[in-house]
Amino acid sequence: MIDITRETKSFPFDLLLEADPSIDKVKGYLGRGDCYIAKQNGEVLGAYVLLQKDSIVEIVNIVVDEGYRGKGIGKKLLQDALFNAIQMGAETVEIGTGNSSIGQLALYQKCGFRMMEIVQGYFEEYEEDIIENGIVCRDMIRLSFSIN
Ligand SMILES: CC(C)(COP(=O)(O)OP(=O)(O)OC[C@H]1O[C@@H](n2cnc3c(N)ncnc32)[C@H](O)[C@@H]1OP(=O)(O)O)[C@@H](O)C(=O)NCCC(=O)NCCS
Repeated sequence: MIDITRETKSFPFDLLLEADPSIDKVKGYLGRGDCYIAKQNGEVLGAYVLLQKDSIVEIVNIVVDEGYRGKGIGKKLLQDALFNAIQMGAETVEIGTGNSSIGQLALYQKCGFRMMEIVQGYFEEYEEDIIENGIVCRDMIRLSFSIN
């Protein structure tokens, strides 16, 4: 069984950096947000981080350990994140991903997120180039989920 619980001290940096390669950004939102970790028999399988601003909760990081991807854990984490965002009083839940993140765009839309805006050049400020699915990651696609 997979348990998802809030973690306040011991953050899985290696994992979180797989979803967001900027250590400064990860440290920044861990200091202000809520980190949840999925574990099975004590082993960390995945994590996500929520950041609240008024009635908007953003999923600023979501990741599943590489060896466990494609088994429905990402969907489970996303559903848990939506549940916790509702408990926090969110009216809207937002998430951003790269223009090259085809699988992530599929997952988020399958879970009810709709495309909202494109932040052109967002990933161009990252130190290293990000290439996925043969596509250079330059722009952030922002998606939102409306509660009710
Ligand atoms: C994104 C991530 C969290 C998804 O976790 P996961 O456990 O592999 O996801 P799931 O197994 O729950 O699958 C999610 C759904 O997306 C679908 N999906 C994935 N890639 C797809 C693609 N290219 N086309 C269509 N659907 C796709 C799956 O079919 C599945 O839908 P289904 O349940 O209807 O079959 C995981 O791949 C990951 O950690 N990636 C690296 C970090 C990252 O990029 N984080 C997000 C930053 S924005």
